[in-house]
Amino acid sequence: MRSLLFVPGDSEKKLEKGFQSGADIVIVDLEDSVAPTSKAAARDIATAFIRERSHASGVGVYVRVNDLSSGLIDDDLAALMRVAPDGIMLPKANSGADVSHLSAKLRVHEADNGIIDGSTRIIPLITETAAGVLAAGSYRPEPRLAGMTWGAEDLSAAIGARTARDAAGRYTDVFRLARTLTLLAASASETEAIDTVFPDFRNLDVFREQCVEAERDGFTGKMAIHPAQVAVINEVFTPSAEAVARSQAVVDAFRSAGNPGVVAIDGKMYDRPHLRLAERLLARAKTA
Ligand code: COA
Ligand code: MG
Repeated sequence: MRSLLFVPGDSEKKLEKGFQSGADIVIVDLEDSVAPTSKAAARDIATAFIRERSHASGVGVYVRVNDLSSGLIDDDLAALMRVAPDGIMLPKANSGADVSHLSAKLRVHEADNGIIDGSTRIIPLITETAAGVLAAGSYRPEPRLAGMTWGAEDLSAAIGARTARDAAGRYTDVFRLARTLTLLAASASETEAIDTVFPDFRNLDVFREQCVEAERDGFTGKMAIHPAQVAVINEVFTPSAEAVARSQAVVDAFRSAGNPGVVAIDGKMYDRPHLRLAERLLARAKTA
């Protein structure tokens, strides 16, 4: 799961384009990109589109529903679970308990719709509220979790920050904290960390830098808001041939030495954490 492209759920045109964008996952949005007056229409458009088109496309489909306190999520799930999306993105998650809460709801919809129990995955947005950031340590491994991601826009609004970035374009401390906690929470929950969106969609150079930094830091994918961002994500988050060769050399060195604790390759020490990193990269290369 490298690229996840948001598509407003009330736009048939963008849904069509989204499924042709090359994204690994299309996130059909019923939340912040859909006006309050268009929620019902978006459910209908998204449901019809997913029913008719998604299964033929080979692209993963997630639905971003409205949050647990919105009063809208039950109608969202009742409509969309009829077409069995691969997963649900949960916005404004406040803690691990919210994932359990959604999981309980999904179980009922799976039973109602003849969907295999437990097969609908969840990706929570864990930093959109102040409480959510502070509860990053409450997430636990859960079979439905497919990843975790974070958002800066809602958090800005929640805390009253007029901007998330300084004059040089770097995230300010609170947003760097949110980003960091997402990496740690995902690792502690044995799931993937997915980096947040970059709204300035014409600026692909800065976007690429962000992808490179995210991949370096341990994120395995990034969300997009525009089709032009997808190719950049796929390129940066697909391990390069050199990286694969380097990792394979590490794995081979351990194997041929009889799986010891530590080996030397070209005058450098490699111990068990290096082996784990190499194995992770090879696994990512395989799924990409
Ligand atoms: N998914 C699918 N298609 C998209 C798209 C998206 N996220 N964003 C743009 N497109 C399409 C446009 O419809 C347009 O199609 P056309 O050439 O047939 O007219 C084409 O790609 C080029 O778009 P462009 O003109 O560059 O941008 P725009 O002004 O039409 O759209 C946004 C800009 C920001 C409104 C649009 O990218 C968008 O809706 N993004 C998703 C927003 C979202 O879901 N936010 C919630 C999560 S943060
Ligand atoms: Mg939002």
